[in-house]
Amino acid sequence: MNNIVEEIKKLKYEKNAIILGHYYQRPEIQEISDFIGDSLALAQWAAETTADVIVMCGVNFMGETAKILCPDKKVLIPDIEAGCSLADSCPADSFSKFIKEHPGHTVISYVNTSAAVKAVTDVVVTSTNARKIVESFPQDEKIIFGPDRNLGAYINSVTGKNMLLWEGACHVHERFSVEKIIELKKQYPNALILAHPECKGALLKLADYVGSTAALLKFAINSNCNTFIVATESGILHEMQKKCPNKTFIAAPPSDSTCACNECNFMRMNTLEKLYNCLLNETPEVHVDSEIAKRAIKPILRMLELSK
Ligand code: 13P
Ligand code: SF4
Repeated sequence: MNNIVEEIKKLKYEKNAIILGHYYQRPEIQEISDFIGDSLALAQWAAETTADVIVMCGVNFMGETAKILCPDKKVLIPDIEAGCSLADSCPADSFSKFIKEHPGHTVISYVNTSAAVKAVTDVVVTSTNARKIVESFPQDEKIIFGPDRNLGAYINSVTGKNMLLWEGACHVHERFSVEKIIELKKQYPNALILAHPECKGALLKLADYVGSTAALLKFAINSNCNTFIVATESGILHEMQKKCPNKTFIAAPPSDSTCACNECNFMRMNTLEKLYNCLLNETPEVHVDSEIAKRAIKPILRMLELSK
């Protein structure tokens, strides 16, 4: 193949396809995506596109969300094995049992869940809109929040709520080393620490700013500061550096590795070659059981409505 990028563009045009990419994708995939964004933006673009084919360069739950929103479109994902440890930490049958054991609660679920978990949820949230949506409920509303315990605890702390939390977590965001970040801060005393709310509470306490992937990017663009230690999946540094070529971004290091940055092995499963094959062969395709999809669309649409 002469130029895989040109071939992908050609196929995309021929098939009236759109490529949506998450900020945690490999840089070359971010570069070829029609839109890049965080989980909320990807769902919003999927809901609005007029393309016939959506190629979701992200992980499985993002493909499922797009398929639920666009049942008549073909939704492809370059690697169908691209899962998510956070979604996996919340099996639908155990979560349903938890809900039954705590009657009278409104169920709020993070978008990083399977379609089956969304089907037993009242309203879906992402890290961008979670606080706003939780605050839209009366202060004394009894709420179950799942599956991310760190995001849930963070929202409890900033809203004064006492939501009941499911004990799930993302292996990428939980493995940052607070000690190594403190050392980095000594080396770069003027740097601001930016952290995603899926990180552990001890790190969030240390952070100068806590926000979703898109919020961290916006903060970095608008800040007067020139150096940032970034505690989220290191793929976001690509867009940060592009938008702020004169600023310095340092990937916060994980505790369990000699590697300086923290990558999600699931997000990185998508490659240019797999993207090309997926467009060419129109497979792997994302499918969602129609009965589950019928129930799961309601809390997703409610989220999109509440995010306006
Ligand atoms: P956001 O895209 O909402 O920032 O979530 C981060 C994440 O871990 C996606 O898998
Ligand atoms: Fe899931 Fe964490 Fe990877 Fe996001 S970074 S896809 S939450 S495992």
